[in-house]
Amino acid sequence: MFTIRTATSADIPQLVALLNALFAIEADFYFDPDKQTHGLNLLLASAKDRIFVAASLKDNKVLGLCTVQTLISTAEGGPVGLLEDLIVAANFRHQGIGAKLLAEAVNWAECQGLKRLQLLADKNNGAALDFYQKQGWQATQLVCLRKC
Ligand SMILES: CC(C)(COP(=O)(O)OP(=O)(O)OC[C@H]1O[C@@H](n2cnc3c(N)ncnc32)[C@H](O)[C@@H]1OP(=O)(O)O)[C@@H](O)C(=O)NCCC(=O)NCCS
Repeated sequence: MFTIRTATSADIPQLVALLNALFAIEADFYFDPDKQTHGLNLLLASAKDRIFVAASLKDNKVLGLCTVQTLISTAEGGPVGLLEDLIVAANFRHQGIGAKLLAEAVNWAECQGLKRLQLLADKNNGAALDFYQKQGWQATQLVCLRKC
């Protein structure tokens, strides 16, 4: 049994551990706990962004997380959302937690007036791509480029 709630600073060590697991399966990212802690703190401090967690009703342990950030889209003529991190702890997958986290993020985005949500997924992460498709997300023709 779990609940979905907004993250607090007390959750950060558990969130960093989940991001470690997430970056281990995404070839474009590497784990640096100081950077991830800093990024999470910035998200917590921002009214335009949100970190949702799934927490155990038994002991408040964090079972999963989902982050959403606000961007401005000229294409949409207004704010849109970027879903940057979604992960459920390995032992708690296939219990509906990922779907509930995603639904909460979508609901929040709608309440904020965001006109669209988008995300990047590793092209080799077939399980996640299947999951998003089942949740009604569509692939696009875009590719991601980066300059460091
Ligand atoms: C992708 C991910 C977030 C999905 O989270 P999840 O909690 O396992 O997802 P859900 O349980 O909501 O749904 C997944 C599956 O469980 C099924 N399910 C949902 N509730 C269920 C329940 N009560 N009992 C059994 N199965 C259930 C769903 O139908 C779905 O079926 P599928 O296995 O055929 O796809 C999770 O697998 C994960 O953390 N993966 C690693 C990180 C990752 O790849 N993140 C995405 C980065 S872009």
